[in-house]
This record gives sequence, structure tokens and C-alpha cells, in this order.
Amino acid sequence: MKKEYETLLAEAKALIDRSLPLVSNLSNLSACLNRMGGLNWCGFYLARKSDDGDALFLGPFQGEVACTKIPFGKGVCGKAAAEGRSIVVPDVLAFPGHIACSSLSRSEIVVPILRGSRVLAVIDMDAPTFSRFDDEIREALEAVAALIEPLFD
Ligand code: SME
Repeated sequence: MKKEYETLLAEAKALIDRSLPLVSNLSNLSACLNRMGGLNWCGFYLARKSDDGDALFLGPFQGEVACTKIPFGKGVCGKAAAEGRSIVVPDVLAFPGHIACSSLSRSEIVVPILRGSRVLAVIDMDAPTFSRFDDEIREALEAVAALIEPLFD
């Protein structure tokens, strides 16, 4: 893993305090992940059952006001949640069903936080440039997701 991602991972690990509520940890982690730079949005969506099925609800984040509810299967976030796998989108304009919370976004990565096969939440990052995210970033975020999983009740 690149040095900068090792540092990010170490910072994320150091920030996590299991005695705190989930929302406090995720809030600081969103700020920590945003240090990666070159992002216009960075944060969490949390999985919950809703009246009309499983959905992702807006959690702690850095960036502009965003959509608050994304049904599983919809957009990049909902697809990653429905399939339980990370999705890297080099060009959001070419992704069918992409939900444009910000007209600035050009590329996106979504990484699920999994407990077994159950999706607890997703990490979502948007960038104003094409192809901002690669497999190295994906691997780093998957490692961060594994650190976060035990924080969920
Ligand atoms: N673009 C996402 C929606 C969330 S925002 O990017 C913050 C999607 O297509 O799921």
C-alpha cells in the first residue's frame, strides 16, 4: 500500500475510540478521510430497513448538502450496498443511474462496511476530476471499512 494510504489508515485507527457513540467516530473519520485531498464529498451512508425496503441513510460527511435516502440498488451507493462490493466509477456521467448530489462530481468510489454478507453502511467519496480513484485507494478504504465494522452495535 502507498505510504500516504498507510498513513491515512494509521490515522483512522488512532482516531477510533470504541467508548464513543458511532456517530462521533464516523464524524471524525469523515474528516480524517477527507485529508486524502482532491475530493468534493466524503462520508458515510448507513443501512436501515425502511417502509419501502432496505435503504441507505445519510450519515456523517464532509462536503455539500447531499441526498438523505438511497434505496438499495439505486445509484452507485445503492448498487454497492445491494451487491456487497466496492465500486470504483472513473466517470460518473457514464454510470447508468448515478445519483448526482453535486453537479461537480466526476468520479466516485463506494466501499461497503460489511459484517459477513450484511451491509452495515458504505463509505462514499466523490471527486471533481475523472478517474480520481484506483484499486490502491479501494484497498485502503476496504481496510478502513474493516476497522469501522466492530463499531456498529
Ligand atoms: N452519487 C451517489 C449519491 C450520493 S452522493 O454522491 C453524496 C450515488 O450515485 O449513489
